[in-house]
Amino acid sequence: MKKDRILVTGGTGYIGSHTVVELQKAGYPVVIIDNLSNSNAEVIDGIERITSVRPDFVEGDCTDIETLRRLFASFPDIKGIINFAASKAVGESMHKPILYYRNNLNTLLNLLDLMGPNGVKGIVFSSSCTVYGEPDENPVTEAAPIKKATSPYGNTKQISEEIITDVINAGAPFKSVILRYFNPVGAHPSAEIGELPNGVPQNLIPYLTQTAIGIRQELSVFGDDYNTPDGSCIRDYINVVDLAQAHVIAVERMLNDISDKKIEIFNLGTGNGVSVLELIHTFEEATGVKVPHKIVGRRAGDIEKVWANPAFANEVLGWKATTSLADTMRSAWAWQCRLRERGIM
Ligand code: WQD
Repeated sequence: MKKDRILVTGGTGYIGSHTVVELQKAGYPVVIIDNLSNSNAEVIDGIERITSVRPDFVEGDCTDIETLRRLFASFPDIKGIINFAASKAVGESMHKPILYYRNNLNTLLNLLDLMGPNGVKGIVFSSSCTVYGEPDENPVTEAAPIKKATSPYGNTKQISEEIITDVINAGAPFKSVILRYFNPVGAHPSAEIGELPNGVPQNLIPYLTQTAIGIRQELSVFGDDYNTPDGSCIRDYINVVDLAQAHVIAVERMLNDISDKKIEIFNLGTGNGVSVLELIHTFEEATGVKVPHKIVGRRAGDIEKVWANPAFANEVLGWKATTSLADTMRSAWAWQCRLRERGIM
């Protein structure tokens, strides 16, 4: 039976592109909208090389509601949305709060405004463990208190979750699954797609692999004076393909009305906390490639330690992150090497 079309906003981005691959593998027709502010259209070619199916693509900005109106008119069979389109660098958001609030919130408001009139049944929202702020205890469950965000980025995710809740509680005719990611890392095992931010990477792994291959001279470790075993920050690094697969499950859950709840929230992590220095050593052991690095001062807005208790997602979604950190580091390195082979960087 033909499956419903899914709109993936930000679908040429890192997590978005990997999710498009998994949606297509599950038989869903996909249309992507992306303004290419932190990605490029060649990602579509990569997706097609993996799945042999070229997703429909609209270049556009979701903060412009007329652009979205035209998109829904062109694709009236959209029944589900996965919203990735957002600015997402914790550090950058400290310096550009207006950009973050305008982009992340206006995008969501426009989508929610248009879902009812266009018969869309549900929206999967890309949220983040940053909503927990600095958690009182780790691992973090979905019942952990939402604490004051330590960055405008984290605050946009908190506000977005509240907006979705208010809109649905006001009687909106659709559902939502909110997925709180921990730290997505790695690349597709085919090395056809991966993390490729424009400009100087803000996230750890792309900066690490660009250092390992010689594009960057040295990786700065932002602080080793935290209250952690080796002094560097701890995160829950989850393989991006494992993460993408959770989105397909979430879409099926909504479109097939598997749950009677209109809003569900899940932590997507591995359950393992890993420090920055441990991650560097894991990469070096897994690939045999050294990463020149130095300790520098802390980065404003950074959380000291946060990792997931993924039991709820494991149980209710029947989903579990299974890829090892070593395999994930190897996939990130293979992707960086592929970019070099192609002369992309
Ligand atoms: C990880 C650790 C840095 C760069 C991410 C995403 C955000 C959200 C939550 C999904 C921190 C350290 C980094 C560097 C370093 N994910 N670091 N040197 O800040 O945890 O947030 O996960 O929504 O979108 O950005 O990720 O990769 O920036 O930092 O030492 O050059 O690596 O201090 O401890 P972060 P990150």
